[in-house]
Amino acid sequence: MKGISALGTQGHFIQEGFLGALLAQRLRTLADQELAEGALTVPGTSRGRTGNSGQPVRGDLTRWMTESDALYPELYEKFNALRLGLNVEAYLGLRRFDLQLAHYREGATGYARHRDAFRTPGPVRRVTAIVYLNPDWEPRHGGMLRLYAPGGALDVGPVMDRAVIFLSELLEHEVLPPHAPRWALTAWYYA
Ligand code: OGA
Ligand code: MN
Repeated sequence: MKGISALGTQGHFIQEGFLGALLAQRLRTLADQELAEGALTVPGTSRGRTGNSGQPVRGDLTRWMTESDALYPELYEKFNALRLGLNVEAYLGLRRFDLQLAHYREGATGYARHRDAFRTPGPVRRVTAIVYLNPDWEPRHGGMLRLYAPGGALDVGPVMDRAVIFLSELLEHEVLPPHAPRWALTAWYYA
């Protein structure tokens, strides 16, 4: 898999064209419809989180994707291929993954610096893979992903169909404030 050796040295790698142009555009169209229908919600509210419980501040609206989603089989195939590639080339023993769609409106707070995995009992997130769905993104739109990689901080633009793959327990990261609507689909892989 192209770039995967950087996972060991830098804790992350980037793949362009992860879903393919057509699937990425179909997903973005679906996402826009769902937002208009009110299908995305403030994360964690279903468990009664108030936003004042030690969780990092985040300004997005999210929705978990499930097998009943029209695009799920095609998305599953892409992210499962990544799972198998990571297992073969990086011996990660990843068994399953969850998929979450996330939207930041223009002017939203970003997502404060955090890690995706914590030493808690139960299943642990091992790898995070984020694919961006913003065909018109330009630097002035903000919303970069800032990765605190071993070699130094690095800002990644959330451009259409770019995937950032990183070790969930290792890499701290944050979303800089978006000045334009910002969409991403994230997979968290569990061992
Ligand atoms: C997250 C996250 C980063 C991004 O949802 O945990 O860090 O670029 N997202 O959307
Ligand atoms: Mn994160």
